[in-house]
Formats: sequence, C-alpha cells, structure tokens
Amino acid sequence: MASPHPTIPDRPPTARELLAFYLEAGVDCALHDEPVNRLSEPEAAAPRTMDAPVERKPLVMEQKAVPRGTPIPPPAPDIAIASAREAARTAPTLDELRTLLDNFDGCALKATATRLVFADGNPEARVMFVGEAPGRDEDLTGLPFVGRSGKLLDLMLRAIGLDRTTAYIANVIPWRPPGNRDPSPQETQICLPFIKRQIELVDPDVLVCLGKPSSQAVLELKDGIMRSRGRWHTYDTGTRSIRAMATFHPAYLLRQPIYKRLAWQDLRSISKALTQTQT
Ligand code: URA
Repeated sequence: MASPHPTIPDRPPTARELLAFYLEAGVDCALHDEPVNRLSEPEAAAPRTMDAPVERKPLVMEQKAVPRGTPIPPPAPDIAIASAREAARTAPTLDELRTLLDNFDGCALKATATRLVFADGNPEARVMFVGEAPGRDEDLTGLPFVGRSGKLLDLMLRAIGLDRTTAYIANVIPWRPPGNRDPSPQETQICLPFIKRQIELVDPDVLVCLGKPSSQAVLELKDGIMRSRGRWHTYDTGTRSIRAMATFHPAYLLRQPIYKRLAWQDLRSISKALTQTQT
C-alpha cells in the first residue's frame, strides 16, 4: 500500500533537477539575477501599529525608477482597454504602432516578457496570418513564429508558393504569456485594438486566423476551429471589407498531424482567393 505521507528525498535536489522542476512548473525565465526578499523591504519589515498610521502613497507608476521585471500593478482592465483603443486609433503607420505598443503599459504581460513580438514578413503582402501569442523562441528573438510551429508555418506557406517576403505574420497578443499559459480574456481584449489597427494598416486582400483563440478574437467566431475552419468570412478593417478564413494553428497540427489534410484544403482555398483577388 502506498504511504499516506509524501516521500522525503534523502538528499537535496541537484541544480539540474531543480531547473527541471521550475520548467515543469512554467518558470522558464529569470527576472532578476538575485532573488528579492520582499519581507526584508522596509514597508514589510516595519509592523503597523494603531498609533503609527500608514502613509498613503498616490497610485503613480514611476516607470524610470522601477527595474525591469518588478511587478507593477497594471491599470484596471476597462481603463487599459479604453486607452489601448485610443492609442491604436491614433497610430498612422506600422512603425508608429510598434513604438506605441512598446511604450504601452496597460498589459501586465509586458512586464514578464523579454521583448515585444510585433510582426514579421512583408507589410505590403496581400495575405496576413494572425496567431495567438509568442512562445519562448519568439520572446527571445522578437519575431513571431520562429519556433517549431513557425517552421511548420513556413512549410505551409511554401506549399502555396508563399514565404515571409510575400506574407505578413503577427499575433493577437504581442508579449509572451509567462510559461506559455493561455492569455486571459482581459489580456486579449487589451491587445485586440492593436492587432486590429495592424490589420487595417497592412490592409491585406486575405486575412488568415491561425487557431481558435485568434479566430475568436479577431473574427468573433463562436465555434471551435473544427467547425469554423475553411469557411470564408468578411472582415471589416475599418476602411474596407476583406476575405478572412480561420484554419488550424500549426502547433495544433504538430500535435494532431491527421488534420494536415484539412489544413491543406484551407491553404488551397487561400491560394485560390489570392489569385481571384489579384488586380
Ligand atoms: N504560436 C503563436 O500563436 N504565435 C507565435 O508567434 C508562435 C507560436
């Protein structure tokens, strides 16, 4: 019979075992060189007493004085969404949109990501692909879809005669969620105005959403990818209507290669639409 008590290891874990444990738990990036003992910080160390009232500090984020990685409370989601909408609306070019995003502090994911992952490919392309959020490789390089699923996306593009000089690639979320967790609905809503503005500025003839989170956020499709894929929709960029389709995310195809056959059908429809919309 199994012991009711957890086994106590007879030796401390090795550094390799500890790192493996952290990785398994989703801790795969270091924010500081040294651990921070928050209990030793003056505010925590000085106990409050009835006759020593707490000094209330104003809620001002002094960005310059705060080292990278220090958790800064982001604004309330509805304030962040409103300010994202306002900021994205005013960006007249892709370069300015990128700068705006780089300076935007309304999304908590920015604090844990290494860098912004804005886009890759040709901004003049007639087709734009939108994924969900960067992973580890993208976070390290600053480019979308460069890891394993990116390699598959490149093969998918190549299958219909495209590559990163003839396609434009971005994500709904431009910062890596820690440990590759799913972005929260609030994080998605905060980032949505930026990707929508990016689509408007690229103004492709054909928009392809990769996977369910992207198709739900951008195309507002309610179904799962199995039902929503392969059908044409109309996406209103704000300046014109373009053809849009949802298809499988390459990461999903890596896990479920049996669906590559259906993905190939979608790719052929995309290729055909590009020929039809050619001017
Ligand atoms: N998955 C995504 O959705 N986007 C990337 O950039 C990489 C993996």
